[in-house]
Amino acid sequence: MTASTTTTGERQQQLLDVAANTLAGGGLGLFQLPPEVNLVIASGHGSRVTAVDGREYLDYHLGSGPAFLGHAHPKIVAAVEAQVRKGSTYYFLNEPAIRLAEKLVAAIPCGERVHFTGSGTEATFFALRVARALTGRHKILKFEGGWHGMHDYALWGTVPDGPSDYPHAKADSAGIPPAIADLVLVAPFNDPDAAVRIIDDHARDLAAVIVEPLQRVLLPEPGFLAAVRAACTRHGIVLVFDEVVTGFRIAWGGAQERYGVVPDMATYGKAISGGFPLAAIVGRAEVMAPLDARQRPRQDLAWASGTLNGNPISAAAGVAALGVLEEPGAYDHLHAIGGRLRAGITTLGDKHGYAVQCPGEDAVFGVRFTARQPLRNWQDLLTADRSLGFRWAIELLKRNILVNPNEKFYLSTVHSMDDIEQTLGVVDEAFEALEQ
Ligand SMILES: Cc1ncc(COP(=O)(O)O)c(C=O)c1O
Repeated sequence: MTASTTTTGERQQQLLDVAANTLAGGGLGLFQLPPEVNLVIASGHGSRVTAVDGREYLDYHLGSGPAFLGHAHPKIVAAVEAQVRKGSTYYFLNEPAIRLAEKLVAAIPCGERVHFTGSGTEATFFALRVARALTGRHKILKFEGGWHGMHDYALWGTVPDGPSDYPHAKADSAGIPPAIADLVLVAPFNDPDAAVRIIDDHARDLAAVIVEPLQRVLLPEPGFLAAVRAACTRHGIVLVFDEVVTGFRIAWGGAQERYGVVPDMATYGKAISGGFPLAAIVGRAEVMAPLDARQRPRQDLAWASGTLNGNPISAAAGVAALGVLEEPGAYDHLHAIGGRLRAGITTLGDKHGYAVQCPGEDAVFGVRFTARQPLRNWQDLLTADRSLGFRWAIELLKRNILVNPNEKFYLSTVHSMDDIEQTLGVVDEAFEALEQ
């Protein structure tokens, strides 16, 4: 067969075959869709992506969150095109990075100083280092089920298959030095008494408490974040909110605004750079001081530099993205479409006899097949029927709705109510297909 007679479907399959034999694991991470729905994306515009085989999907994954304004938003494209003609990286200061920092400081309640990093993983890794440099202590506390990226301090008790032996948890990944087990404590989410007890017991050694304020899809119960905040303040522990997902997504001021608790430091990624690689640590000037060579002698500095930190293309995209989000109505629209989709999925699940919940926020939520109420922590999430959730997601994928099975639905500012109604029609069919 000559190249000219290759169909788009065959071309996609050829690419998948090359991926299978060249990429470790055949994909871009551990995550892989099953062969019958696997795809290679060729382009994305607005709320839709098109695969190499020509199929168009309504996208509820949005690159795992960064494409918050949809794909190829004209304002982001224009900003990036303008910048790329002027060069892509300089290492020295550049105006887009300065303008983005200015916007972050203006919007973020704890934001007085910004330090750019390349990814969310780097942001949380360096935030914890800064906290250790500041306090002279070495341990950190995280919460069971909390996701803070891929570094050795983050991957403890993230996806355990049963309760952890609090405050100790198992490492999630092979290759993490066992010695780190002593440095990372783990508490159950939404249990203020347990968290405060662990903080009180280990206060002398604790540099930081890091928490996803909306933990994956779990809302913080009233009083939980405030109790953690108070305990950290009492003991001079740095409270870090990981806002890589929530920042600028669940509100302009992120989780800090939405839940009314202000940390000392917070990490950002995804939405802040319009789909380009950039993340940041933001915090009070006092806690960011270990990053400031103007204030501290060399031996007291926390090193956190990176070749592409604050690179002008990503920063220009970020300034453009935040400019759009600043316009009136963006968050009202997200509540309207996300609220409708969540309610619709739950009602349709009910119609077909499935106990389905959509925990989270309107702009980012999960679909979990469980009757457990309320969903407060990781152990509650473990009651969800993942194989049913997986099969349901595959039925959506077969019908051109792009989702990551058993993970999150992400909504963009450009999903329309028509998109949502179309999706609910497919959701109905997917539940129906489950029964067969
Ligand atoms: C809350 C949270 N923190 C940190 C990260 C890591 O970010 P990145 O994938 O950019 O390293 C993620 C990634 O999904 C995340 O959801």
